[in-house]
Amino acid sequence: MDSAETRAAAANLFPGRVNSPVRSFRSVGGEPIVLERGAGGRVWDADGREYVDLLGAFGPLLLGHAHPDVVAAIRETAGLGTAFGALTPGEVSMGRLITDATGLERLRFVTSGTEATMTAIRLARGATGRDVIVKFDGCYHGHSDGLLAKAGSGVATLGMSDSAGVPEAIAGLTAVLPYNDAAALEEWFSAHGERTAAVIVESIAGNMGLVQPEPAFLNALDRVPRAHGALLIADEVITGFRLRYGLSGMLPGADIVAMGKVIGGGLPVGAVGGSARIMNLLAPEGPVYQAGTLAGNPLVSAAGAATLGVLATGRPYERADHLARHLENGLRAALKRSATTGTVVRAGSMLTLFFRDGAPRDYAEARESDTAMFGRFHRGMLERGVLLPPSQFETWFVSAAHTEADTDHVVNAAHDVLRQVAEARE
Ligand SMILES: Cc1ncc(COP(=O)(O)O)c(C=O)c1O
Repeated sequence: MDSAETRAAAANLFPGRVNSPVRSFRSVGGEPIVLERGAGGRVWDADGREYVDLLGAFGPLLLGHAHPDVVAAIRETAGLGTAFGALTPGEVSMGRLITDATGLERLRFVTSGTEATMTAIRLARGATGRDVIVKFDGCYHGHSDGLLAKAGSGVATLGMSDSAGVPEAIAGLTAVLPYNDAAALEEWFSAHGERTAAVIVESIAGNMGLVQPEPAFLNALDRVPRAHGALLIADEVITGFRLRYGLSGMLPGADIVAMGKVIGGGLPVGAVGGSARIMNLLAPEGPVYQAGTLAGNPLVSAAGAATLGVLATGRPYERADHLARHLENGLRAALKRSATTGTVVRAGSMLTLFFRDGAPRDYAEARESDTAMFGRFHRGMLERGVLLPPSQFETWFVSAAHTEADTDHVVNAAHDVLRQVAEARE
C-alpha cells in the first residue's frame, strides 16, 4: 500500500484515520504522513520518500530508529516467548538499571506514560487521604480523566472538564494553575492546602512546545506542597533519561516520579517510582490497587535495558546535545536572515522553534505564537525532506543517530522555507 492507499483504507478503520489525534496533521494542514521504515535519524514514507526525522516518535528514540543493540535484544528475547504474566529476570535487570541511575527505591512498570501518571496520582491520594490535585496549564500528562481538566474561572478555583466524556465531578478535583507562577501555587495552597493530595508537573514542559521552568517556580514546587502535607509528582515521561542518564535533576525533592518514552527504547512502557514507604502502598503490599497484564513485559524490558546500556556511556547525550546546539544556532541564523519573528528554545536534545518574539514562560504566552506560520513552515520543511512534529506546541527530538549532514540539511531547508515565506509576505 502506498501512502494514499493506506490513508484511504485507514479512513474506514480509525477515527480521523489515526490512532492518536496529533498524527492527523490537523494543526498544520495537509495529509497525515504514512511512515514505513526508519534507520538512525531518518524515516521513509510509504511512497519511498526519505526524511530527516525530528519527530522522533514523540520522544522515545534517543538512539534513533532500529539501533542494532535494541533490535538484537528484541529479536533474541522474542524467541523465548513474549509474555508470561509472571515475574521475569528481564524486568528485574531493567528495574535495577533505573533505580541505580535515579536513586528511586521502588518501581512499578506499566505500559504507557498515561498509566504512569494515573498511578502516581492514585498513590498520592492513597498516601495523603486527600482528593484534590494541582496541574499546570499546558502540561500534558496523558489522557486519564482527572488530567483532562482546564482552568476554572479564577486562579484559586477548581478545574472544568477539557474533554467530552470527562465528568465535571472528576475534572472538579483538579486545579489548573499557570506554569512558572510561584505566586499562584502559594495562593492555591494557602486557600486549599489541606484538601490537596499532590501537585503534578512536567520537570521541563514539553507539551506546549518547550518551556523551561524558572528557578523561583522550581523552588516553590519543592517547598510549598510539602509545607502543606501534599506530595510532588515529577512527570519525567519525556525528560527521564532524555537529558542525562537518570532523571532531569530539575525536581530532586519529588515524592513520586512518572517515567516512560526513552526507558522503553521505542516499545510501550511507563514506570512509577518513589520511596519504599510510598511505593509499598501499592497492591499487593498496600491498599492502593493497580495492575497490568503486560506490565514488565519481556520485550519491553529487553529493549529498555539495551537502550539504557548504550546510554550509560554518556556518549549519546554528548552527541545529541552537540547536534541540537548546531541546529539551534542554524535555525536562529535562518530566522535572522529572513527577518522572521521567532525564538528557538532548547534543553539538551529537545528544542522548539516558536513563531513569536521571545521564549514563552507559560501556555498563555506559547499560544501567542503564529500557528498559521508554523503550518506553512511545517509543510515547506516536509516538502524538503524534514519531518517535524505536526504542531507548534510540540518538542522536536534530536537523536544520537543524527549526523551533521542531517542537521545541515534541516538548517538549509529552514533558510529556504523562511526566505520563501518572507518573499511571499513582501
Ligand atoms: C510529559 C508526558 N507525560 C505523559 C505522557 C503520556 O504518555 P503516553 O502517551 O505514553 O501515554 C506524555 C505523552 O506525550 C507526556 O509527554
